[in-house]
Amino acid sequence: MDRTTSADVAVITGGAGGIGAATAAILREDGWRVVIADLDLDRAQAEASRIGASACAIDIADKQSVDEAAAWVEREIGPCGALVACAAHLENPHRPEAQDIAEFDRIVATNIRGTFVTLTAFGASMLRRGRGSIVTIGSITALNSSPLVAYGPSKSAILAMTRDFAGAWGRKGIRVNCVCPGPTRTPAVEASYARGERDPGIMTAQTALGHLVDPRDVGHAVAFLLSERARSITGTVLPVDAGTLVSQLWSLYGGLPA
Ligand SMILES: NC(=O)c1ccc[n+]([C@@H]2O[C@H](COP(=O)([O-])OP(=O)(O)OC[C@H]3O[C@@H](n4cnc5c(N)ncnc54)[C@H](O)[C@@H]3O)[C@@H](O)[C@H]2O)c1
Repeated sequence: MDRTTSADVAVITGGAGGIGAATAAILREDGWRVVIADLDLDRAQAEASRIGASACAIDIADKQSVDEAAAWVEREIGPCGALVACAAHLENPHRPEAQDIAEFDRIVATNIRGTFVTLTAFGASMLRRGRGSIVTIGSITALNSSPLVAYGPSKSAILAMTRDFAGAWGRKGIRVNCVCPGPTRTPAVEASYARGERDPGIMTAQTALGHLVDPRDVGHAVAFLLSERARSITGTVLPVDAGTLVSQLWSLYGGLPA
């Protein structure tokens, strides 16, 4: 058991999805009281009953919905001591000139504005109590060039936001860090492999470790950063990518050694 305080609640937005659900399960194992908050309430409830958590509806693109969810957690479940801002609008690869601008606006509204609104709404009660820890979920697309040309910049904004909030709220007892997953074998990504949109073989070949990331690998990193074990860590960006970023320049020299 490695929670911040015995009474605190951990909220995971996007907690019904692949990485969010795996993270929720690990936080339950660590002893947190968990709330799975998601646009898809049915799946949130199913995941919550599977692991012994609570569920609530949230649309992070809608400020009122986020404010209501934060108030509901405080009133019905308890003080929010940990927040995982995981919900995001994903994207398939394309060139910048082929970008659908309405889709671009949805990505900005969800990933940038939605994450900001999530941090301020759930952070308000942490500020009142003078304690809390937050992990945002970025992506390695925030750290290098990729054909996810709206999603990647939106994740770069989340990195900047993480640092801004870490600086602003450190003296208030709140830590804010970011975990950046690489290609992770969630059910949605597995389905994308099955449809031929992405190739797991190509992605695996780009990793130093020779395997893709499991959703629980991301969850363990999040759980560590939320815990007291990370009490002196704030404003950091932690890639969980099986060495995808670190292997990039090796392609200039014939690739990674076997
Ligand atoms: N899977 C990967 O390879 C990968 C890689 C890098 C980063 N990430 C990031 O990890 C996080 C989780 O992704 P995932 O792969 O588990 O995706 P997923 O699609 O399985 O889960 C995303 C969840 O977010 C919810 N959601 C979407 N829009 C929402 C909104 N407006 N309000 C509330 N909930 C909303 C969805 O209902 C879904 O349950 C995301 O931030 C994603 O950008 C994933």
